[in-house]
Amino acid sequence: MKIMVIHGANLNMLGAREPSIYGNITIDSIDAELQKIASASEVYLESFQSNFEGVLVEKIQSLHDFDAIIINAGAYTHTSIAIRDALLAINKPFIEVHLSNIYAREEFRHRSYLSDIAVGVISGLGAESYYAAIRYFLAGNPRG
Ligand code: DQA
Repeated sequence: MKIMVIHGANLNMLGAREPSIYGNITIDSIDAELQKIASASEVYLESFQSNFEGVLVEKIQSLHDFDAIIINAGAYTHTSIAIRDALLAINKPFIEVHLSNIYAREEFRHRSYLSDIAVGVISGLGAESYYAAIRYFLAGNPRG
């Protein structure tokens, strides 16, 4: 099994960025923990981060070889029809994750262009949102 983790805009700033909302954890430690969970199950995992919408679209388009995607698109969650369309085009099961609970925040964060086409959405558990997502796929529940 091959799993791709995609982090969108501003997630490279985790650790320094609004710690009262996102905590002190860095993207590198999230990726390292995901890698640990994956390798314990002998699953191949890759992580990718970009702040650019088109780069994220091209990365998603290239995922033919992968079985599942975990994506935190950051603010693009709330704006990007292009990322939605790329996920529809590649047609792989994906879980939408967020560190914060987007439904407990500003109204403009309540809309997601990804949720209705996702296998599921995990929002508000901090880094655990990612870990729960990978555990779901590792348990053999792709539902894609
Ligand atoms: C986020 C929530 C988004 O609304 C925000 O724009 C982010 C991070 C989260 O992980 O909580 O960049 O996706």
